[in-house]
Amino acid sequence: MEILTLKRPDISFSDEIHSYRQEFLDAGSPLNGCGPLADMEDPAEWVAHTVRFEKGDDIPEDMVPSTQFIYVRESDGKILGTIQIRHSFTPFLETYGGHIGYSIRPSERRKEYAKQMLHDCLPYCKELGLEKVMVSCVDTNVASRKTILANGGVYDGTVWEPEEQVNFERYWITVE
Ligand SMILES: CC(C)(COP(=O)(O)OP(=O)(O)OC[C@H]1O[C@@H](n2cnc3c(N)ncnc32)[C@H](O)[C@@H]1OP(=O)(O)O)[C@@H](O)C(=O)NCCC(=O)NCCS
Repeated sequence: MEILTLKRPDISFSDEIHSYRQEFLDAGSPLNGCGPLADMEDPAEWVAHTVRFEKGDDIPEDMVPSTQFIYVRESDGKILGTIQIRHSFTPFLETYGGHIGYSIRPSERRKEYAKQMLHDCLPYCKELGLEKVMVSCVDTNVASRKTILANGGVYDGTVWEPEEQVNFERYWITVE
């Protein structure tokens, strides 16, 4: 059985972080669930950013602390995905963005990794004191909807987000 592990990113993963980011940019795929990685060419800068946000030190007033994980396949050390857990809500997160954002690198999609990664982060949500988490997806994102539903997501409604001009479907997952 494959061993897949959620880890906090550190600079020992610099080469992997670099190739992960580049793969998304080359594919024109959105880097969700990894904060500003798309804008940060230097992996060390991103790692430092994740540390700062988990501690909640020196972060902008309109943002909340978050924990960043990378999802690593132990057999080859490859980063398969990223998942970010927000410790609380801003008004935007409460209505649209939710507690959790994630993505799986293009070359590793459709192998059930997203379903497994979301499942694996739920115990950490409980450690944070979250009894249920809101997870959302744009209404055209079939794969993300199925990922949420596979993890027990209960549909709460759809809201129109005027800036991006998209419908967000909101789901709640009870953390066991
Ligand atoms: C959404 C995403 C994380 C799914 O990752 P994944 O590892 O391919 O998903 P899984 O293999 O776990 O599949 C989950 C389900 O979605 C289905 N699925 C995956 N890709 C699909 C696609 N392109 N079209 C339709 N269904 C798809 C799978 O068949 C599976 O369905 P099942 O429950 O019926 O078996 C990935 O496509 C991604 O990173 N997309 C870009 C970023 C993104 O959209 N993030 C989520 C923001 S809310």
